[in-house]
Amino acid sequence: MSTTTPLAPGLDHLGNLPAAEIQRLADRANALRTGAAPQRFAGKALGLFFLNPSLRTSASFQRAAARLGLELVQLRGDGVWGLEHQDGVVMDGTTAEHLREAAPVLGRYVDLLAVRAFHGAGSFEECRQDPIMQGFRRWAGVPVINMESARWHPCQALADWATLDQHAIPKRAKFVLSWAWHPKPLPHAVPNSTLCMAAQRGMDVVLLCPPGLELHDEVLAEAEQLATTHGGSLTVTHDREEALHGAAAVYAKSWGSQQHWGDLESETAFRAALRDWCVTPAWLGDSARFMHCLPIRRNVVASDAVLDGPQSIVLDQAEHRLHAQTALLESLLS
Ligand code: CP
Repeated sequence: MSTTTPLAPGLDHLGNLPAAEIQRLADRANALRTGAAPQRFAGKALGLFFLNPSLRTSASFQRAAARLGLELVQLRGDGVWGLEHQDGVVMDGTTAEHLREAAPVLGRYVDLLAVRAFHGAGSFEECRQDPIMQGFRRWAGVPVINMESARWHPCQALADWATLDQHAIPKRAKFVLSWAWHPKPLPHAVPNSTLCMAAQRGMDVVLLCPPGLELHDEVLAEAEQLATTHGGSLTVTHDREEALHGAAAVYAKSWGSQQHWGDLESETAFRAALRDWCVTPAWLGDSARFMHCLPIRRNVVASDAVLDGPQSIVLDQAEHRLHAQTALLESLLS
């Protein structure tokens, strides 16, 4: 990958924005939720490119584009030529088109490009480099919005910030991000973005997980820095009782272990004893709100009683994807 081509602006990681700008977008999202009229951008076009499945992100971006009067160009990974992202490759295998052409071609058709690309293959370190997302950002020539990569999910984090505001959860409240059991090792994008979002919001953030399921050191360091800068704190613990005591919000999410990355057999054996990491009403006490980005496996990640109970705000989080992305698109196009 060239180191000289500048990255296009857009949004890759929420933590790259100043907290005041995130707050402005969250305020705008809440205004749009309660009826403010969106701006209109006649003649502008948004490209949506999904290399992985989606329900919320796809539907909410389509609806946000319609609210703003944008034309849409939609593509799925299984509808395009196999894409190559590595430099210097002899392309005589399965990939038929390089990102160096695909990204700028799309960039010539649209004013903004939004991409979902987890890039699940390879070592943990290779995934962390986010080569497909970074290739689009480098070569598209237009602003690129990350709709979830292997590393970050900034649109989810922005919607979650706005949802915390909607429910008047104070900045200095205790926010617990807890690992939950799941049959598959999932990417780190959501937990990475959630941890940094809560830290940048100035909350007292607790990462609760079994030993061996901590997030990457670099993400922990960034979250700690953000928390310190914004008046909050970061604690990493394996002690469930201590973590949940006094929590205002419990955000459940599953993710894969770094140590077993890419080895499904050893990962499955490693997490076999962790099935009790399923959120029940007892985790929430009388007042903690329950959060999850969805999709969620019922009675695996959280019980029916949690999801159907009055403390769950998962549908508000999902609704805020629409308002937060409308606010983000307005801002990037203005
Ligand atoms: N939370 C989220 O990004 O949902 P989808 O994968 O359905 O888009």
